[in-house]
Amino acid sequence: MKVLVAAGPTREPIDPIRYISNRSSGKMGYAIANEFAARGADVKLISGPIMAGCGCTGRFAQGVGVLKVETAEQMRQAVLQNADWAGIIIMAAAVADYRPLEQSAQKIKKDVKKLTLELEQTPDILKELGQNKNDGQVLVGFALETENLLQNAQQKLMEKNLDIVIANGEKAIDSDMADFIIVDKEGYKEFDNVTKQHLAQVLANRLLANN
Ligand code: CTP
Repeated sequence: MKVLVAAGPTREPIDPIRYISNRSSGKMGYAIANEFAARGADVKLISGPIMAGCGCTGRFAQGVGVLKVETAEQMRQAVLQNADWAGIIIMAAAVADYRPLEQSAQKIKKDVKKLTLELEQTPDILKELGQNKNDGQVLVGFALETENLLQNAQQKLMEKNLDIVIANGEKAIDSDMADFIIVDKEGYKEFDNVTKQHLAQVLANRLLANN
């Protein structure tokens, strides 16, 4: 089985010094990549800049099969280039939803009291994958929500043409443990206070059994 995993945050530059990003350690995506590889899957990991000392142990922590990217557009290019290769695609990345409309070539100096940044939406990689899904391909997305976890995850499942959405709350950020809801077209299952590694095992059990 060929598995493509995207992990970590993206960074959207404002100027050469500053960027917009999301809180994301990379732990979830690396746990998934390592778990699927341990089960014998052929795994490619597209990784944003993960947290130093995230403890993302395993072969992908050593950089094996990892393609490093920074921005949402770079992640999009890397994911789309490998999408046809993959039977399973898991988007565990915390892709920045907005980026500065313009990027300053020089450091923006502190010469005004208030600074307004104009932002534009980044491309929704997962949505694009859902629109171009190959026959038999399995698409897994995450939903990080601060409210209405189940409803929002079910909505993302339908809107992005996904097979599974894993919903989690802000407590999951940077943490080894979290509460998760795995949502598919048949229903949902809740996992309270489990490790990200456990969640990766549950996902591998489900997906590798059927493929
Ligand atoms: N995602 C993506 N491309 C983006 C934004 C998100 O591929 N530009 C993916 C994430 O990797 C995740 C899923 O979409 O698997 C859901 O991301 P999330 O931030 O929870 O939700 P959004 O769909 O971006 O919607 P909203 O921020 O309005 O909740």
